[in-house]
Amino acid sequence: MQPLALVTGSNRGIGRALVQSLEWHGWCVAGHGKSPPYQACLPRSGLYIQADLQFPEEAANKFVNWMEQHGVPTLLVHNAGYYKADSYGQGEVWARCMAVNYLSPRLITERWMALSDPSEIRYLVHILSIAALKPRLDAVSYSFSKLCLKLYSEELRNHWSARRFRLINVYPGPVLTDSWGGEESLPEGMLKPEDVARCVIDALNSPTPENQERYNTPMKPTAVLEEIIITG
Ligand SMILES: NC(=O)c1ccc[n+]([C@@H]2O[C@H](COP(=O)([O-])OP(=O)(O)OC[C@H]3O[C@@H](n4cnc5c(N)ncnc54)[C@H](OP(=O)(O)O)[C@@H]3O)[C@@H](O)[C@H]2O)c1
Repeated sequence: MQPLALVTGSNRGIGRALVQSLEWHGWCVAGHGKSPPYQACLPRSGLYIQADLQFPEEAANKFVNWMEQHGVPTLLVHNAGYYKADSYGQGEVWARCMAVNYLSPRLITERWMALSDPSEIRYLVHILSIAALKPRLDAVSYSFSKLCLKLYSEELRNHWSARRFRLINVYPGPVLTDSWGGEESLPEGMLKPEDVARCVIDALNSPTPENQERYNTPMKPTAVLEEIIITG
């Protein structure tokens, strides 16, 4: 049976590329979005959750209901994100960045781990941003929300260290997606969504004590890719 992966924000950009790559590598993928699924972007499985991450409790409940019905994913990718420039974290942009980029993923992860069988391996991927490592003063709320998710991931790694749990944080530089729509000038050397997807696949396939014999790699069997910074 194919292992189940759930990718948030799967209709467009990096999320869409992740769905395609994971399917190519043998995962049964379920998608998610704020909007109803665009038919052409629906994962092959037809599985999809519609939930607005601006409302964390309500969104997390929808994810739980879905997992109770369809099964608990082996892999959860928190990719959905909200970006808007602001130079002082407050008001609507702040509330929305914190809810979509930090509070909802956190709550969904907590519910997902609570439903997971402790004997089974679980993979969690966070699509963060280099703004979590070097905060952008022209995007304060966004940077702060991504930094919060990064800090939470450190807490998680520590908390679940006794379980078969792997967490991979990805920090892309600028990636050419719809989120740049409306910008007058684009940064040079932008990444493609497929570049990010490829890094996630490589990290998932990096050796673990469980899978090392399947991969012909010079890495030590105990090496694990956990923090990936990608710039163009
Ligand atoms: N593009 C970049 O330069 C860049 C760089 C570094 C990191 N990232 C991060 O990479 C991730 C994907 O970015 P992208 O550029 O591919 O984004 P994108 O093309 O703008 O797509 C964003 C996705 O997030 C979903 N989303 C946004 N707000 C939501 C909400 N309130 N509730 C539920 N879903 C919501 C959207 O769902 P709908 O389709 O239903 O609207 C969409 O699928 C984000 O976390 C972003 O911060 C992007």
